[in-house]
Amino acid sequence: MALESLNPSGTVAWQNLRTHFEEMQYASMQDMFAEDASRAEKFHIQWNDFLVDYSKNNINQETLNHLLALAEEVNLKDAIAKYFAGDIINQTENRAVLHTALRADSNEEIKVDGKNILPEISAVKNKMKLFTDEIVTGKKTGFSGKPFTDIVNIGIGGSDLGPVMVVEALQYYKNHLNVHFVSNVDGDHVNEVLKKLNPETTLFVIVSKTFTTQETLSNSETIRNWFLQSAKLEDVAKHFVAVSTNVQKVTEFGIHPDNIFPMWDWVGGRFSLWSAVGLTISLAVGFDNFQKLLKGANQMDDHFKTTPFDKNIPVVLALLSVWYNNFFGAESEALIPYTQYLEKFASYLQQGIMESNGKSIDRDGNPVNYQTGTIIWGEPGTNSQHAFFQLIHQGTKLIPTDFIGFVHSLHGNKDHHDKLMSNFFAQTEALLNGKSAEQVSAEFTKQGVSEEKAAFLLPFKVFSGNRPTNTILIQKLTPESLGALIALYEHKIFVQGVIWNIFSYDQWGVELGKQLANSILDEINSGNVKPHDSSTNFLLNFYLKK
Ligand code: F6P
Repeated sequence: MALESLNPSGTVAWQNLRTHFEEMQYASMQDMFAEDASRAEKFHIQWNDFLVDYSKNNINQETLNHLLALAEEVNLKDAIAKYFAGDIINQTENRAVLHTALRADSNEEIKVDGKNILPEISAVKNKMKLFTDEIVTGKKTGFSGKPFTDIVNIGIGGSDLGPVMVVEALQYYKNHLNVHFVSNVDGDHVNEVLKKLNPETTLFVIVSKTFTTQETLSNSETIRNWFLQSAKLEDVAKHFVAVSTNVQKVTEFGIHPDNIFPMWDWVGGRFSLWSAVGLTISLAVGFDNFQKLLKGANQMDDHFKTTPFDKNIPVVLALLSVWYNNFFGAESEALIPYTQYLEKFASYLQQGIMESNGKSIDRDGNPVNYQTGTIIWGEPGTNSQHAFFQLIHQGTKLIPTDFIGFVHSLHGNKDHHDKLMSNFFAQTEALLNGKSAEQVSAEFTKQGVSEEKAAFLLPFKVFSGNRPTNTILIQKLTPESLGALIALYEHKIFVQGVIWNIFSYDQWGVELGKQLANSILDEINSGNVKPHDSSTNFLLNFYLKK
């Protein structure tokens, strides 16, 4: 069954939140902390290796009650059941949304079109395991008999961002294989990667759900031509494998049917790293670690499915984000991991969040009369502190920020880790408390700053604070905890899509640009520029004069 359609702004809870916002918009978190010493006790969730402290938000118990009532009123419980059961909740593409099935226990039963899909999933996983083992141990070799040393993942969007983020995040668990990613259709990207490779010892993994994506097909052809300068046509079968739903197109490309790892249309590209799209992850860290990643995600799935909403991490984080987005008018959210390993986490979630919830038409086909998808951005701390934190601390915009940190570092350098984590704690404290005029003046007096200079500098040195943050503190970055963390944000996306009454699992908005690029490419190739708007014609003619 499809998801129900209900305009959230017409719910009682939404109206209550509106009224409540009138008081809360001027509330001071500093006062709320001063008045209630047990605030952190009240507003945190501890689950497995995760501690989520959301007390540094502009909320009180009443806010939370209204937000939880909103979740009830939009029938989130029923939506979650439909999501996990494989109902057709991606209605515009007439598909189920079942990335959660990829990490489900194999003895469960999840049906698509009346057929249990878990045996198929297990079969593909077995194939991935065998293939991974053969490549990692050197049992499978390249055309000259040498073991593989390098893997190249060729894909874009969901066929790149998940694998690239996870391979980087799990670098500590990596084996000897060098892993590269080619995504951009920019020929300079592929050429820079090819420069580093030996065709005899390189395995190419072409990942494309549709196998029609211009970028991936162009890069694959360029790479195959480069490969054929040193190898024979029959060697392609040893060096190229593909992950796709489009078996026919893959075979036409020249890939041996044994080297095709299937995926299914009920897995959305941006949620596909759990499928064979994760083959490069499995090759990089071994299949056992890939399984652990799935296990962690599955544990988060269980938490999300079974935990009451007030203790449910994805639900609470989604509701807080709705509070800022729809009532405070916050446009963006920052995601700051305090580990270099998660350098690509924000860019990975940019696709997950913005491609999913960047929609303005509701599930009835009408324009929405409220804000939807948030803008996501971020970089690892502490680097980001020295880059854009100034604006988060003292700028004019409200930017709710998630801080993600780990109790233990992987290499165990205590000195570095304590310094890193001191910054982690200090930033959320600074964003909450700011620095008052009294504190600044006291500092000036202590430093012996002249009265005139102090009067001038004072306003610039005051921090208002009262800026919301969530702290997600995890024991250690492991394949399991990473899996759970990714799944947490996947479910946050789902909850928000349900509340905003939009279809989160299609992406029609990226199609128009693709279509226009194809017709402009024909015009560039033929030199025959058709009428566009005057700006596009002006630019095309300039380009063609090169
Ligand atoms: O950017 C649009 C998109 O369709 C994404 O949703 C998808 O992840 C990406 O293109 C790549 O598609 P494919 O895996 O079919 O090559």
